[in-house]
Order: sequence, then C-alpha cells, then structure tokens
Amino acid sequence: MLRSLILYLAQAAWAKNLIMRIGLARRTAHRFVAGDTLEEAIAATRQLNSNGLEVTLDHLGESVTDETGALQATQDYLELLDAIAHNGIRATTSLKLTQLGLDIREDLCLSNMRAILEKAKATGNHVTIDMESSDYTDATLHVYRTLRNENSFDNVGIVIQAYLYRSEDDMKALAAEGAFVRLCKGAYKEPPDRAFPDKADVDANFVHLVEQFLTPEACAAGAYLGIATHDEKMIKASIAHIKQHNVPYENFEFQMLYGIRSRLQQQLRDDGYKVRVYVPYGTQWYPYFMRRLAERPANIVFFVSNLFRR
Ligand code: FDA
Repeated sequence: MLRSLILYLAQAAWAKNLIMRIGLARRTAHRFVAGDTLEEAIAATRQLNSNGLEVTLDHLGESVTDETGALQATQDYLELLDAIAHNGIRATTSLKLTQLGLDIREDLCLSNMRAILEKAKATGNHVTIDMESSDYTDATLHVYRTLRNENSFDNVGIVIQAYLYRSEDDMKALAAEGAFVRLCKGAYKEPPDRAFPDKADVDANFVHLVEQFLTPEACAAGAYLGIATHDEKMIKASIAHIKQHNVPYENFEFQMLYGIRSRLQQQLRDDGYKVRVYVPYGTQWYPYFMRRLAERPANIVFFVSNLFRR
C-alpha cells in the first residue's frame, strides 16, 4: 500500500512541486544523488574510483515532453562524455529514453541516441539504457535493437527487470544476441498481469534469470551481465552459479546504487569482483528519490519523522 502510494506520488506533478520545495527532501535526496552539478558527480566518481570501484553516471531526467528539453538532455550527455574523457575517470553512462524524447517521437529519441553513442564511441565509452515502467518495455527494446543493428553501435546495453513475467523471454533473446544486460528487480508500480506481485517470486525469478543468462554459449557470444542488486541473497546465489559453472570474470560485474550498502560494495570489491556504482546527479532528483523511498519503508519513516520534528 505504502509503496504504491509513494510510486503514485513519484508521478504526480502537484506532489513534485510540493516536495521539491522542502529543504529536508532535498537534503535526504542527496544521500542517493551525488549533487546538482557535473563537477560534483566527477568528484564523487574520483572518490569511488580511488576505492577500486567502477562507476556509471546518470544525468537525472525523465518524462521530457518538449523537443527542446530532449535536445538539452542530449547536449548534457555529450558534455558528460567529454568530461569523463578529459578528467580521466573510470565511468560509463546510463540514461532513460523518455529523457531523450521517446514520449514525443521515436525518431527524435533515436537521433539523440545516435549522437550520444557516436560521442561515446569516439571517447571509448559505453551507454546503458535504463528500463522505465512496463508501458515502455517494447519501445525501449525496439530503440535498443535498432541501434544495435546499426553495426557501429556495439557500445550500448539495456536494463531488464526481474519482476516482469516477460523478462524470461527477453533475457533468452538478449543472451543469444550477446547483449550487455543490467538485471535489476524493478522499481515501478506494475499491475499483477504484467509483474509478480510477491517479492519472493521476484527474488526467485532474479536468480533464475542470472542462471539462465550466464551460460557458456551466451558468454562465448559476448553476453555480459550487470548483476544490479543490494540483496545479499541474490548476490550469494549469483556467486554460487558463477563458481559452479566457472563463468569468466569478463562476462559479469556487480552493480549497486550510490549511497546504498556502500560497505557491501567495498566488500565485494575486496573479494576480487568488479563492482560498479550507479551515480546519479542533477537537479531532476524527485522521481529517482521517490523510487528509492518506495524501495525501503525505513527510508520513508526516517524522512517523514524528520519532517514533523522540524
Ligand atoms: P531489495 O529491495 O530486496 O533490497 C535488498 C536490500 O538492499 C534491502 O534490505 C536494503 O538493505 C537495501 N536497499 C535496497 N533498496 C534500498 C533503498 N532504496 N534504500 C536503502 N537501502 C536499500 N529499476 C528499474 O526499474 N529500472 C532501472 O533501469 C533500474 N536501474 C538500476 C540500476 C542499478 C545499478 C541498480 C542497483 C538498481 C536499478 N534499479 C532499476 C532499481 C531496482 O529495480 C531495485 O528497485 C533496487 O535495486 C532495490 O532492489 P534490490 O535488488 O536492492 O533488493
């Protein structure tokens, strides 16, 4: 119930206007967001890199409804890719297609993605397309495959969500295509005819999808898995599969979000695994912050109790 309410508020313009004006909300959001500016994101990346952690940078933004906004977001990503190269930091990039105009026209989104992927290629970088709500799954996969089929773009990956029933088929196809996939549980409000309503089923499917994806055939075809979770049970089960089947270390990494389970990130790194931290930055933190609140009731309790203590 609470999760549904928070995810509803994440989409509501009136709630966004209200909550973004609360100073405490902004300060709490900054537990999960590296800062408002590119400079702050670079400083956070340097710190993580110095601890042996890889990074993927996300310039926050989504649900853009005007062409100018989509072009501006594209420019911001071009600037980000240049900054990564000039600063010599170890960071890839992640983005959302509705940030680049998917809600306006697919060809606009495609042309923005091409510009970003060209720049990423020229600077030796990689772009992962985040997955938004299930209303966008088909469109997101279509844009991803259109770009992948344009031979020059082998530097693009995609996110798949374990809570969707369809993900088993999507992952099978992506494994055969030798894709770069980031597997996460899924963060949106979804109806029971599209997604497992029970967490236990989502968890079981997550492990099943890791095992199904990381096969010798898929690894030989170049498939790569970002195991994106903070859940130690998911991580242990993945490691058990990796060890049992001698999955090459070049075919997977662990991924976690900035500000969440930092000690676990470091521990996995110290155990010899590649770990990438997803670092968001920018002023459009509201929906990202609300999804982080929805994931963990304790975050909401902390936020609301501090609100009333002021
Ligand atoms: P789970 O929710 O079971 O949490 C396991 C443990 O992790 C908790 O017990 C707690 O200790 C800690 N934890 C988890 N969330 C926390 C939070 N918000 N605050 C504090 N502690 C927390 N989703 C999506 O739909 N599309 C996408 O593109 C992405 N992209 C993405 C990239 C990366 C790198 C990651 C790690 C995650 C995503 N997600 C995402 C989010 C994902 O779908 C999921 O909502 C969160 O990762 C939380 O799920 P866990 O797997 O961590 O498990």
